[in-house]
Amino acid sequence: MKALRWVDPPAGPAIELLDQTRLPATEAVVRCTSAEQLVDAISRLVVRGAPLLGVAGAFGVALAAMRAEDVEAAATAIAGARPTAVNLSWGVGQALAAYREAAYRIGPGPGENAGAGAALHVARMIAADDAAASAAMARHGLSLVPAAARVLTHCNTGQLVSAGEGTAFAVILAAHRAGRLAQLWVDETRPLLQGARLTAWEAHRAGIAHALLPDGAAASLMAAGEVDLVLTGADRIAADGSVANKVGTYGLAVLARHHNVPFVVVAPVSTVDLETPDGAAITVEHRPAEEVASMAGQPVAPPGTQAYNPAFDVTPPDLVSAIVTEQGVIQPVTAGNLRDLGVASGAVGAPQATFYVERWRL
Ligand code: MRU
Repeated sequence: MKALRWVDPPAGPAIELLDQTRLPATEAVVRCTSAEQLVDAISRLVVRGAPLLGVAGAFGVALAAMRAEDVEAAATAIAGARPTAVNLSWGVGQALAAYREAAYRIGPGPGENAGAGAALHVARMIAADDAAASAAMARHGLSLVPAAARVLTHCNTGQLVSAGEGTAFAVILAAHRAGRLAQLWVDETRPLLQGARLTAWEAHRAGIAHALLPDGAAASLMAAGEVDLVLTGADRIAADGSVANKVGTYGLAVLARHHNVPFVVVAPVSTVDLETPDGAAITVEHRPAEEVASMAGQPVAPPGTQAYNPAFDVTPPDLVSAIVTEQGVIQPVTAGNLRDLGVASGAVGAPQATFYVERWRL
């Protein structure tokens, strides 16, 4: 089943999500028929991963409009469900702009219907573009994968986070299909184990030779010369090239630099945020202590233990060997290179921030 499915009337309108909190043991569906239910699903990581949060955000606006909810309030709630992945507020913003464009131009009554239709159209365009971007990133990223590569990846960046095959994992899949992948090392990715639960599940389904490791073992693995390339995704790329991604990514970048291993970030242009000047300006989500103090619902620390649980960290641009987007490979990673990239596409803060409304009008 796909990670996200839009359901048209009469069965809908609804958004059906593959519940990622229950994988790999159970493939269960969470059905959202209101913005509130979608906000809950996003905050509990039933649906997750930057590109898919963008898609979910846009469909969330369409859902609210079709369910005659207060669309402005719903959009604010959905965009605020998680702060770090820029795609979420970007996707909501694109669909909301289309809704407003139609609803306010036509006026009350028929305007709302037209607005709902416009938001849905834009959501579908964002999903289609995300699938195309995924394929393009796989093509461009493959050029950075050496023969018989031993690749280390962190968190989960495959079809569970995308309308296509993902970002970093799409490159890994392409390398596997090209016979260029000798070994995939999968960080477990504490505390919610996106690597152990989701990436290992996707690697297994794709028939990729892989091994799971505790996050803390990456250092000795690199020291042993067992890693040729690190591939990760991103949740927000600031204008200076700083990359926010799952906590643990920064540590990997430092290790990769120390051991001379290329550290490559794979992300669609929609994850580039030119309005955020640098890493310090990125809001990092902090999540509940229980996620650290328990595992699979079982306490692993004494009751009342305090926890420091940032969901993401920020890697400075000088530690990033390259950024792969659907438009190509950015190397070196500089503010200038990102600005050029942003100008030509729908990156947040780019001149064409209402990228999809322009296209919807066509
Ligand atoms: O908290 P999560 O699971 O949503 O974090 C996801 C990540 O950090 C991914 O690496 C990132 O969103 C890129 S997904 C292509």
